[in-house]
Amino acid sequence: MPVIAVVGAQWGDEGKGKIVDLLAEKAHIVMRFSGGNNAGHTVINSYGEFKMHLIPAGVFHKGVTCVIGNGVVIDPAALLEEVEELRKRNVEVDKLFISDRAHLIMPYHFILDGLEEESRGSSAIGTTRRGIGPAYMDKVGRIGIRTGDLLDKGTFLERLRLVLDQKNRIITRVYNAKPLVLEEIYDKYCRYGELLAPFIRETDLMVEKALKNEEKVLLEGAQGTMLDIDFGTYPYVTSTTTMAGGACSGLGLSPLKIDGIAGVFKAYTTRVGGGPMPTELLDEIGELIREHAHERGATTGRPRRCGWFDAVVGSFSARVNGFSSFILTRLDILSILPAIKICTAYQIGGKKLSSPPSSVVELAKCEPIYEELPGWQTDIGDIRRFEDLPIEARTYVKRLEELLNCPVSVISVGERREQTIIVQELL
Ligand code: IMO
Ligand code: MG
Repeated sequence: MPVIAVVGAQWGDEGKGKIVDLLAEKAHIVMRFSGGNNAGHTVINSYGEFKMHLIPAGVFHKGVTCVIGNGVVIDPAALLEEVEELRKRNVEVDKLFISDRAHLIMPYHFILDGLEEESRGSSAIGTTRRGIGPAYMDKVGRIGIRTGDLLDKGTFLERLRLVLDQKNRIITRVYNAKPLVLEEIYDKYCRYGELLAPFIRETDLMVEKALKNEEKVLLEGAQGTMLDIDFGTYPYVTSTTTMAGGACSGLGLSPLKIDGIAGVFKAYTTRVGGGPMPTELLDEIGELIREHAHERGATTGRPRRCGWFDAVVGSFSARVNGFSSFILTRLDILSILPAIKICTAYQIGGKKLSSPPSSVVELAKCEPIYEELPGWQTDIGDIRRFEDLPIEARTYVKRLEELLNCPVSVISVGERREQTIIVQELL
């Protein structure tokens, strides 16, 4: 039975939420493996519209187990709020489990994220200010606190005292800000621990069991490959492995067990936050796409930067992840345009590049080389078969298949679950 990873292939917000919600119908178990509540996965289905930040988008299917793996950082308040919101809207959350090894976002992470961003001035990363970076820093720095730690109050207090003392010194002496009070955090997090206890599990054992029982497993990525800590546009990235490989370390899953990796691409490009984006459109076309597609961050509400499809980024992303297929979302948005461009290479100082340079300074200097394809300018929202798409839309998709060097498996032609063309079944 297949284990399929669904990962973001651009700068996030590719529509992973809709895709996971759709594919989860056939899954037994859906697992999030990285990121935190910096993610904002929009899902529209019979229950209504939801912005998922931590809980896998498989939660809408009764009987599907949802796991938040050890690779995720958890803000307990955000998670409990999400659980509450789902329950209020009649979605059952009785099969949600979180790893005892997942690190917690603590109040000082939140504060430090803001203070660090402000200190960067004009080089700010444009983080979501959810404390993600500082939480992962502590994980790697071996001073993190994990969900499992909340289950033993004595050990938790001891660890918190040690860490908070260090954090308060940074907050007060480096940033001249107010120190945090140990007892307040301790009481608050003990309460979270009680509320989260029913969800906390050794989720690596659930992975093992699912594989043994030959269940259909869906691995849900967050963010996108260009935000990956190693292969993204460093330092304008998030603090995790957003790529398919992150599913292994983020869940306790052997790389040998992944049967397919589907990269999710939007039919154009968007980015929120700072950092270079070679195909960004600062003109009326960019504005048109932004307005027509309501391109605003699901987490922060910031307007997203919009541009043409970047196949230099795309083929790089396909290569470093090893996509077995790609999923194309929001193809319907391009229906408004008379002509559509694809960036097939970069030009820099007389040189032509087919792969993005590792340096953002270099990337910022890259000029996109475009090829132009005709648009179709007709509504495609009701089309359910690839062969029924206008010839121009099929040509666009076929060209992307060539450039990405892998086949398309799913095409989204609208925001609702059923507005989808399945070219190749994934699960
Ligand atoms: P989904 O899962 C788009 C961006 C932020 C910022 C950078 C670092 O919805 O695709 P962080 O708060 O992670 O330290 O911010 O990463 N970012 C995202 N952009 N979609 C996301 O998630 C993102 N998560 C983080 O805007 O540029
Ligand atoms: Mg998003």
